[in-house]
Amino acid sequence: MDSNNLGLPVGTTLDRFIKRKQDDFPYATGELSQLLRDIALAGKIINREISRSGLLGIGGAFGATNVQGEEQQKLDVIADIRFTRALRNGGEVCAIISEEEEKIIDLGNHSGRYVVAMDPLDGSSNIDVNVSIGTIFSVFRRISPVGGPITEEDVLQKGTEQVAAGYILYGSSTMLVYTTGHGVNGFTYEPSLGEFFLSHQNITTPKDGKIFSINEGSWDLFDQPIRDYVQECKECQFSGRYIGSLVADFHRNLLKGGIYIYPRSTKSPKGKLRLMYECNALAFIVEQAGGMATDGHRRILEVEPTELHQRVPLFIGSPKMVEKAMEFVRNDAISKGKKTQMKTA
Ligand code: AHG
Ligand code: MN
Ligand code: MN
Repeated sequence: MDSNNLGLPVGTTLDRFIKRKQDDFPYATGELSQLLRDIALAGKIINREISRSGLLGIGGAFGATNVQGEEQQKLDVIADIRFTRALRNGGEVCAIISEEEEKIIDLGNHSGRYVVAMDPLDGSSNIDVNVSIGTIFSVFRRISPVGGPITEEDVLQKGTEQVAAGYILYGSSTMLVYTTGHGVNGFTYEPSLGEFFLSHQNITTPKDGKIFSINEGSWDLFDQPIRDYVQECKECQFSGRYIGSLVADFHRNLLKGGIYIYPRSTKSPKGKLRLMYECNALAFIVEQAGGMATDGHRRILEVEPTELHQRVPLFIGSPKMVEKAMEFVRNDAISKGKKTQMKTA
């Protein structure tokens, strides 16, 4: 350790970093910058609530299910309310779509130029056991004219149209990682100062890795090529790591190199994860960091959304590993195609 550095952390705050980036674009209005600050503020509040949840009595189930039939935890609902409130008060966002809400939330800010898609709290099953959880968000520019009503077209945009995306990881330390399409930067929260500081500048993910993350409990429900790929990972003696909070699994693999797979299965024929709230944002980030994200066939960012709560299989991480996994899927499709041809010939 360099003794000159003792006494840190004092460095670039998230606010200063956002401002500096905004100055690179002379015609930027500052609205996106303010929106990112609003998200960071809500993240700080949620961070406080999560770290005290055992004392505040806000752990456990809320007593209702969301539109997807999943049991909501109290903190899912609290996070949803906090983020919605921060974005409504900020004024830059006209509409939100959220994993926890059935329909589009019209914030009443019709002069707002942005829409946000979010998973307010990811990894709900880990809330009550002190395991890392997260928040995921995507920002789009609205399509309908500013000042008018919100349309479905505003919120059902392809991942390629994201203007910013990020996540907050409430882990051993709390981090905010985001991109606006010019690289990926990570900020660590200093709770005693109430500030996020730049700690991970220009994150790039390793081209290859030795970690595979998949819920092997569903092995019997997976397609054969997925089992074959995982088997190969095991034969290569890669490490299996699966937290069950997508943000945390993703963040580890982003930094260390690895692949996260949530494939289709006989139980979830379209996969489990949600295109708009989870996959698009992480796909944008991973690509900006030099990684890959696909549904096994196509880039996640090019999947055309048709409904708010659309699910999609996810293969995400180091490009060499994602390509390899896709090769298994592709070869299986080819050999099935050949068999069908033989039968019909
Ligand atoms: P959420 O808590 O937002 O509903 O997301 C849970 C997701 C994701 O975080 C995690 O990787 C995955 O579900 C775990 O699912 P399994 O328990 O089926 O592995
Ligand atoms: Mn989630
Ligand atoms: Mn969630």
